[in-house]
Amino acid sequence: MAAERWPAARWWRRKGVRFRVTAAASAVLAAALAASAWVLIGVLDRSLTATIDESAMRRADRVRADADAGRLPLELSNPDGTLIQVIDSGGRIVHATIGTDRLVPLLGRQERAEAIRSDQARYLDGRPYGIPGRLRVVARAADHGQVVIAARSYAEVEKTLAAAAQVLLFGTPLLVVLLAAVSWMIVGGTLRPISALRRGAAEITGTARARRLPVPEAHDEVHSLARTLNDMLARLEAADARQRSLVSDAAHELRSPLASIRLQLEVALGHPEGQEWRETAEGVLEDAMRLSRLAEDLLALARLDERGGIPARREPVELDELVRQGVERYADNPMTVACEVPPGPVFVTGDALDLGRVLTNLVDNAVRHARSVVTVRLRPEGAAAVLTVTDDGPGIPEADRERVFDRFTRLDSARSRDEGGAGLGLAIVRETVRAHDGSVHLEDAGLQHGDPPGETPGLRAVVRLPLSAAPPTGPESSPPEGVRRPRTRTGPAGGR
Ligand SMILES: Nc1ncnc2c1ncn2[C@@H]1O[C@H](COP(=O)(O)OP(=O)(O)O)[C@@H](O)[C@H]1O
Ligand SMILES: [Mg+2]
Repeated sequence: MAAERWPAARWWRRKGVRFRVTAAASAVLAAALAASAWVLIGVLDRSLTATIDESAMRRADRVRADADAGRLPLELSNPDGTLIQVIDSGGRIVHATIGTDRLVPLLGRQERAEAIRSDQARYLDGRPYGIPGRLRVVARAADHGQVVIAARSYAEVEKTLAAAAQVLLFGTPLLVVLLAAVSWMIVGGTLRPISALRRGAAEITGTARARRLPVPEAHDEVHSLARTLNDMLARLEAADARQRSLVSDAAHELRSPLASIRLQLEVALGHPEGQEWRETAEGVLEDAMRLSRLAEDLLALARLDERGGIPARREPVELDELVRQGVERYADNPMTVACEVPPGPVFVTGDALDLGRVLTNLVDNAVRHARSVVTVRLRPEGAAAVLTVTDDGPGIPEADRERVFDRFTRLDSARSRDEGGAGLGLAIVRETVRAHDGSVHLEDAGLQHGDPPGETPGLRAVVRLPLSAAPPTGPESSPPEGVRRPRTRTGPAGGR
């Protein structure tokens, strides 16, 4: 709006940075130089005038002293160019320097009286007295009504001031032009890396890999901008690479169940006689279930990625109840799944469905690898709720314990594909726990106190989640110890 009302403002805004910086700097410098020139001339004028006045006064004082002592010759010498007139009480000039008017006083009676009273020099046009230019005149009262008038030419001062003004008049614009040229060049030089950045960015296309923007040598703002942008490009590239590998891994995982389904159906259709259709259907169903598990895992991961490290919901979750109900689902499992939870409620904040999936993924893994028993334990420890899932299976070698959290990482892929998933379970666990501000790691179960070390090392998955205060609602949230809470949304119903 302001821009529309002020065409000059719009014009200014449309100009480039280079022009604007140069013009602004030059304008400020020009104003500053003009102001200082004005001050300089003023100060120079005042100090030169003061010097002249002082010497005129000194001379007047000396002449007055001589006059009072009656030592004045008729014709005064004029060593320093000061004109002197001594006027008696009758207004006649009784003494004067050589070449000075002897008939007409430089100051009239009235002016003389004023000059004596003010004790200050005054300007006087010298032309009526045959002196070119202006004069500075002072007057001093002497004895017997005599008055001493001393005058000095002001012309030298005027000449000096004119010379100074001339220097400033030509020097100032020259300085401004010089500054404008220098600032034009420096700003141009500063902007050059930005143009290089722009060109570099224009060259980066969606398909080009590993392209980076040129980083200027000077460690300035453009340098940090280029580095920040390059870091961003690197992150985007990494994300892009992750996405690509995820797609190709997912496609790879989809291929085998689909190929298996196709093979089974082709065989069945090719040899319909004596075909066990039920067996075929069971085989196909198993593959279909693998596919749907994979799809669900991919969807869970995509949702986690989408939310960018924030849980879907932030509500109080009664973790002890969630663990108890989660373990109950393994009652029919041939493997013993023991559950140890504290008697009091353990609250964390987050999404019950997602936390239920964490438990299910860990217990599924443990049950699949255990020899005889799986123990799920929950205990508060400081400000954290610690959930451990321990099995007495073969464990995972130290070197692989971080790697298994990567997507599609499966250590036992050669052994049996049918039981396990696609290697996404632990990745989902880690992302979910991180979104809940917690941490998860794997450790050797045999190394811990309290567990009888078996022949196999076993594995313990340790999940730490920040504890939260019990919600202050209703009597349901804090029933007496040992009383089972009614089944709520905190159940891991949505598991896998
Ligand atoms: N309790 C365990 N004992 C031994 N190895 C395990 C255990 N849990 C996970 N693993 C190893 O970690 C790998 C990754 O696990 P996960 O991400 O859950 O994928 P998935 O279960 O689909 O194979 C598994 O393939 C397995 O090799
Ligand atoms: Mg798993």
